[in-house]
Amino acid sequence: AAPASAPRPASPSAIPLEDAQAAENARILAARCSTLEELREALANFEGCPLRYTAKNLVFADGNPKARVMMVGEAPGRDEDLQGLPFVGRAGQLLDRMLASIGLDRSSVYIVNTLPWRPPGNRTPTPAEHAVCMPFVERHIELVQPEVLVLLGGVSAKQLLQTGTGIMRLRGKWATVRIGERDIPALPTLHPAYLLRQPAQKQLVWRDLLALKARLTPPSA
Ligand code: URA
Repeated sequence: AAPASAPRPASPSAIPLEDAQAAENARILAARCSTLEELREALANFEGCPLRYTAKNLVFADGNPKARVMMVGEAPGRDEDLQGLPFVGRAGQLLDRMLASIGLDRSSVYIVNTLPWRPPGNRTPTPAEHAVCMPFVERHIELVQPEVLVLLGGVSAKQLLQTGTGIMRLRGKWATVRIGERDIPALPTLHPAYLLRQPAQKQLVWRDLLALKARLTPPSA
């Protein structure tokens, strides 16, 4: 190992070298997975993200992996950690109502988070945690091959669109997420947990949901 005083090579995302190595390791492990079951297994065995030691459960995904729509949230909260499923708490119940308003439910969407383990006390995920876990999310998307992505909230949009632009500017505008060789249309929208605090903003999300619905509906002949 290099002496502690040696300058660290700059990594593009400016995260510590050990985290950059864990991220590279994650990328290699994720690339080896050719099914969702293998990916779940790889995450269950992955020791490169310390959040796994404070979390109770791995929160892998919920919904239908064959669905046209894949939604990406931020990170599991307390209820999700206890049940091992994404969006099962209050925000999840609101998400279910949002989906129902355009005729969708958990059999017609697939849901994951940018992190598969709960950050202690629901604190904001760190750049290192994202660097280490996003390779699994990207592989997850690559294996599911959704027709469209919905990015729930600023953290998800920032990670997947690699942008510093805030969610209020991004929401409601179709963007593109490049995963492997594919460009996937992605719609950023507000996070349901934010809507619980700011119910007046539901009108904005309603517009976004209509944009999603329009994208999924074939033009009538
Ligand atoms: N918030 C999220 O971003 N994800 C969950 O799974 C629950 C709440």
